Amino acid sequence: MAKLNLKSITREAKKEIERSKNLKDLDFIFKKYLGKKSEVSQALRLFKDLSGKEKQKIGKEINTFKNSFKKEIKNKIERIKKEDNKVSGKKDWFDITIPGKKIESGHLHPLTMTKRRIEEIFQKMGFEIAQGSEIETAWYNFDALNIPTDHPARDAWNTLWLKEKDKNGEQFLLRTHTSPMQIHYMEKHNPPLRLIVPGKTFRREATDASHNFQFYQVEGLMVDKNVSIPHLKAVISNFFRLFFNKKVEVRLRPDFFPFTEPSFEISMSCLACGGKGCKVCKKTGWLEMGGSGMIHPNVLKACKLDPKKWQGWAFGFGWDRLAMMRYKIKEIRMFNAGNLRFLKQF
Ligand code: PHE
Repeated sequence: MAKLNLKSITREAKKEIERSKNLKDLDFIFKKYLGKKSEVSQALRLFKDLSGKEKQKIGKEINTFKNSFKKEIKNKIERIKKEDNKVSGKKDWFDITIPGKKIESGHLHPLTMTKRRIEEIFQKMGFEIAQGSEIETAWYNFDALNIPTDHPARDAWNTLWLKEKDKNGEQFLLRTHTSPMQIHYMEKHNPPLRLIVPGKTFRREATDASHNFQFYQVEGLMVDKNVSIPHLKAVISNFFRLFFNKKVEVRLRPDFFPFTEPSFEISMSCLACGGKGCKVCKKTGWLEMGGSGMIHPNVLKACKLDPKKWQGWAFGFGWDRLAMMRYKIKEIRMFNAGNLRFLKQF
């Protein structure tokens, strides 16, 4: 083992540390004396060949050198930092009263807030919340709802078909309304039933400010031995009153849906003009909200319920329209535009 003159190394190192001017110099000095190529490291590599006594002696000397060398370096670093702070006017303390960085947190989407409000109101009226599937078969979307293959109402709902088929070979489609869930629910549950189904629906449509190919509906269903149209009107009126926190008139006018008989169009008095007639309601004083009616006996039969024993009503309306009215939004496509400037307002 080459003779290691630790005394002179210590002296040299000390001098160099004193002369150093900045952290870069110190880094260089540290590597020179303790880095891989330093004399000390080279000596340590041959350490294993030494006798026990020598090991003890030299080991101790090297440790003493290392400790004092590191201490010198540390002291010098502190001195350099202090000098730097003096020059730049910085202080060694920080102001704990400076406000922290604000952590940005998001909030619920206006459609989600609307959905939750709808659910809350119906739950208070004793309705269950059910969730359907966005993918259905023609049986659930059409046939079981009394819309056979050649029915003209099927054309009105130009459907988005998927390539995949179910295990019976029936082709899947994206549901055009939430009504298929009426069938699923009545298949699995025995009346009396009271439920709503909020969900996403799809239609092959051209879009404009109030139409989109993907939108949201809420289906309502009540089945019992003695339910009738006055119940339907009362539930809908109560819902609108609570949702808008205002007295709202509800109007039912004859309409046609294959799965309800009789069927009604649901309108409510225009909130913008209070029913007097304005641009929003196209001077009619009414806003069209959705469809409804007494469940057609064929639908009950498709769910293996006896129409002589059970009766019920159903309704369906778009809740993106409700959200638009609630938040005074004029353009339905904004909901899915991913525009933060729009979303941050709610
Ligand atoms: N499913 C119908 C639609 O999408 C609405 C509706 C639901 C009508 C329930 C009557 C009963 O237009």
